[in-house]
Amino acid sequence: MQTASAPPTAAPPAGQAGWPSSWTTFPHGIGVGRYIDADFARLEYEKLWKKVWQVAARLDEIPQAGDYTVYEIGDQSVMLVRVDAQTVKAYRNACPHRGTSLADGCGSFPNQRIVCPFHGWRWDLNGNNKLVLDRHEFRDGKLQDGDVALRQLPAVVFAGFVFIHFQPSPPSFDDYIAPVRQWLEDFAIGQMRHYWWKSIRIPANWKVAQEAFMEAYHVPATHPQLDEVGREIVFGDRPGGEMGHHNVHYEAMPNGHGRFFAGPKKPMTGHVQGGSGDLLEKMIARLSLNADGMDAMILQEDVEVLKTLRGQPVPAGSSLGEEYIKALYRRAAEQRRPMPKMTPEVLGSWGGEFFLFPNFLVLPNAGNCEFYRSRPDGNNPDSCIFEVYSSKTYPAGIEPPRARVEPVTMETRKEGFLLVPQQDLGNIPRIQKGLHQGMRQTWLGKEQEKIILNMHRELDRYLKA
Ligand code: FES
Ligand SMILES: [Fe+2]
Repeated sequence: MQTASAPPTAAPPAGQAGWPSSWTTFPHGIGVGRYIDADFARLEYEKLWKKVWQVAARLDEIPQAGDYTVYEIGDQSVMLVRVDAQTVKAYRNACPHRGTSLADGCGSFPNQRIVCPFHGWRWDLNGNNKLVLDRHEFRDGKLQDGDVALRQLPAVVFAGFVFIHFQPSPPSFDDYIAPVRQWLEDFAIGQMRHYWWKSIRIPANWKVAQEAFMEAYHVPATHPQLDEVGREIVFGDRPGGEMGHHNVHYEAMPNGHGRFFAGPKKPMTGHVQGGSGDLLEKMIARLSLNADGMDAMILQEDVEVLKTLRGQPVPAGSSLGEEYIKALYRRAAEQRRPMPKMTPEVLGSWGGEFFLFPNFLVLPNAGNCEFYRSRPDGNNPDSCIFEVYSSKTYPAGIEPPRARVEPVTMETRKEGFLLVPQQDLGNIPRIQKGLHQGMRQTWLGKEQEKIILNMHRELDRYLKA
C-alpha cells in the first residue's frame, strides 16, 4: 500500500472565526480554497479523518489468522490484524516501549506472534503482551499488562470491508452506514473477493480525484468512446440527441452518502444507444468497451455469457437485457457463485454507484464491483493517494488470491491502467492546476452533480463541529 508522507502539525484555524470565504460551500458550487489550501487540509485531519468512520481495508488483505495490513491516513498508522475467522482487530501501529512501528505494508506475523523489531517485545494477535525482555527493569518491576498491551481502535467488519474510527467511543457505526446498508448487502458486496487493486499518487486534492467519479456528466467529453451521441455533440456539430448520461438518476442521502443509478432506459433492460443494426451485436460491442476499457464491473466472462445468446430469438414479452440477466444468473447458479438480489431496485442500480462518505465509492454490477478510495497525502493539498479495486464473486471451490496492491505512478499510468481510468486520470491533475488560477468557486449542476454538494455539506458538519 502506498503510504502518506508526514501530515501538517500546525493548529487548525479556530472554528468559524478562521473560516475564509474561499472555504464556503455555496448553494451552486464549491469554494476553491477547500481544494488548494494547506490550512483546510490541516482542518480535515483534525476534524474529519480523526472523527469519521472510514474504510481501512478489505478482508481480502488479511484472509488468514496472523495476516496483517497497515492503513495510513496522514501521520496516523493503523495495523489491521486477522485474529481468527470471525475477528479482525485494529491497533495503533506503535510499540508501547519506545514507539517503533510494528508492521509495514501487508504480510503475516510468523507463528502469529507480533514482535517489535527494536528490542523484541512480543504480543499475541489479541494485543496481549507476551514478552518484555528483562521485564524487572521497567516501572520498578511493577509493569502492568495494561501498560504494555497494544492500543486498540474501534473496528467494524461490514460487507467485506474493515471500517475503523480513531475515537475510543465513536458514534454508532449502524447509524453511519444505515442509508447504504441494504444496498451493499443486496449487491453481495461482502461476498465479492479480490480480483485486482492498484494505487496511484495523483497531483490533485483527494476530493478533486474522487469527485471525478461522482457523476456521469463527464462521460461524453472524457470517455467519448462510451457515448456516440454525446461525442458528436461535444466534438462535432450535432445539435442534440439522447445522450447516455441523461438516463442517470442521482440521489443525495443522509450522512453525506449518495448514489446514482441508471433509469428505466439502460443497456441491462434492452436500451442500446443508436438506431439501426443488430441489437445483440451492439450490446456485445458496448459491454466489450467496458470490459476491455476497465476490467471491472463488466468483465470479459460476462461478455462471453452475452455471446451465448447469438442465434437465440428473444421470447415474446421479454427483452434482450432480460435474457442477458437470466443467462448471467444461470451461469452463477451452475457455478454456485453469489449474485446480487434479483429485485427491480437492485437490477436498476447495476452500473451505478454508491458513495460512502467521506471517501469511498462502490460501483456494483452483476457479481462484480469496482471500488475507489481517495486519501490526502500529508499536508500537501495538491496530492492524494487514489486506489482502484476490482472485485468479484468466485465460483464455489475457487480460492481467490490474497489482495495485494500494485503501485502505479502518473508516469506509468498508461501501462498500469486501462483506457477508461486512464482518461479520468488524465483530467484530474489538470483540474487541480486550474483551481490555482484565481477562480473563486466551481459550479455544480443541480441534479447531476448534487452528490458532490451533499458530500461537502456533510464535510462542513464535521469541520464546523
Ligand atoms: S521499541 Fe519496541 S521493543 Fe523497544
Ligand atoms: Fe470517468
